[in-house]
Amino acid sequence: MTFNFESQRALFPILAKKAQLSSCSQSALSMPVAQAITDYTTGWLERGMDWAGWMETVHAAKAEFARLIHAEAKDIFVMSCVSDIASSIGSSMEFTAEKNGIVVGEIDFPSLGHVWLAHERKGAAVQFVKADDNHCIDLQSYQSAIDDRTCLVSVSHVSYYNGFIQDIRAIADIAHKHDALMFVDAYQSVGALQIDVVRDRIDVLACGAQKFLLGCPGIAFAYIRPELANTLRPSNTGWFGRVNPFAFDIRALDYAPGAPRFDTGTPPMVNAYAVRAGMQLLNSLGMDKVAPYLAHLSSVALQEVKRLGLRCASPDNPAIKASNTAVYVSDSLGVEYKMAQAGFIVSARNDVIRIAPHFYNTEEEVVMALRELAHHAG
Ligand SMILES: Cc1ncc(COP(=O)(O)O)c(C=O)c1O
Repeated sequence: MTFNFESQRALFPILAKKAQLSSCSQSALSMPVAQAITDYTTGWLERGMDWAGWMETVHAAKAEFARLIHAEAKDIFVMSCVSDIASSIGSSMEFTAEKNGIVVGEIDFPSLGHVWLAHERKGAAVQFVKADDNHCIDLQSYQSAIDDRTCLVSVSHVSYYNGFIQDIRAIADIAHKHDALMFVDAYQSVGALQIDVVRDRIDVLACGAQKFLLGCPGIAFAYIRPELANTLRPSNTGWFGRVNPFAFDIRALDYAPGAPRFDTGTPPMVNAYAVRAGMQLLNSLGMDKVAPYLAHLSSVALQEVKRLGLRCASPDNPAIKASNTAVYVSDSLGVEYKMAQAGFIVSARNDVIRIAPHFYNTEEEVVMALRELAHHAG
């Protein structure tokens, strides 16, 4: 496959010196994102404050995010992290004796388990879906776990651990057959895969900024299906969730129509500047170009892992594996450090090293990183 993003590499100064392959954790900083952060501080330094401009940028960031998932900006709300988004959704739910089940994959990011477990004292009953030995969960396991008592199914679209891609559309269908909501943690997939929340019948989808969206920590986006939003009243709330935040009526808990009812306090402004620029870059390149290229890099990585005889924790079927390739090592943090010394920025998690390229990486970088890793895998 030809590498169409050569000219974009100059936007990421670090690539001149190092191979940053850590998009499952933090993507490389691009000049447009750095400039956007400067624009925020310059405005603050020179104008003192610019509330209208700041809010406009938050809205523009929502619009860029919406474009990445085939949604509309009006159906997006922002918080500071994915954990907070899940907590807010949980805070808007009623758990009754007949309908209180929350189904969550045991391989999903731990925060999601923690958030749903915290709702057990409000009457929820959490059920973890078991994974197979390859850290994947098949549809049958969800089918068995979901029943008429289930009120919410929480699914990780792409595993943070090994890049396994879950079939979210199929699980959404199972959830809806039982009148349960479908919550998707898409932190590892938005900006890496082509996503269509309407086609896939997602009720809520959450994603933070610093992985494939090219931004920095401190802001996360959520899509909520508009018909659903108006039926929920989150107890995790604040003045930005009101019909008119500037009414300043302390006694009126009037929920704004649609997704904005999930807004809480002052949004994370500088983070919005940064991630908006990152998402603008992605949207200008087009996910129809970025996603196939990442699938190609993923296949290249799988072939090289096999050739080198490395022990791989990722699925060996490229059709169900995203950018992230996880290789077992004996001392992951130690190996992450040695890889960084050798010029490869990769990410340690538990017993694996994750190599997760973005569109700005080359085949050669992926192959060379795996060859270096082979010296340290132990
Ligand atoms: C898939 C996934 N979900 C959730 C999180 C945590 O998100 P946050 O820190 O925004 O709550 C991570 C962080 O690595 C992740 O990879």
